[in-house]
Amino acid sequence: MRNFTPFVEGNMAYDVVHILNRFFSALGEAILMNNGLIYQYVGDEIVPKNVALGFRELGRRHTNYGVSEGHYLLVRKVLVDTLKARLKESYSDRIRLAWERMFDLAFKYMKEGATGKKQARTAPKPTVVV
Ligand code: HEM
Repeated sequence: MRNFTPFVEGNMAYDVVHILNRFFSALGEAILMNNGLIYQYVGDEIVPKNVALGFRELGRRHTNYGVSEGHYLLVRKVLVDTLKARLKESYSDRIRLAWERMFDLAFKYMKEGATGKKQARTAPKPTVVV
């Protein structure tokens, strides 16, 4: 929320909490309407988790495609090798790390979806108390 700190400093706690709850409700609704999930509330910030949801579903579908853990590890290596070969002198460790991190994040959630460990959750209630 823009200018949240001066807003808190210049208003009564009761009013800040009231505005925060309205803000979280409106934003939370928009996230849920777009197939998102709310992971947590941090101060004036909402942390959505729609990425996890999408990748879990993708992971479930990949099980049906016959994909197993070993395939992911192989594709991870092939991805890096391909980047290296195609980017040539533009390739760097920074680029490799960024892609590996992205792949590992996708893989983490896809594995959860494939094993059925994590089910979709409902959003936590956006109520702030003082
Ligand atoms: C981070 C890892 C991966 C991502 C993000 C990814 C993404 C996708 C996407 C978006 C599709 C389109 C179909 C759908 O949405 O269900 C797809 C299809 C598919 N993927 Fe992956 N994939 C990944 C890893 C793998 C691995 C490791 C394999 C096996 C070697 C694989 C094999 C397949 C197959 C067989 C299809 C179906 C193709 C078809 O029937 O047209 N994927 N993947």
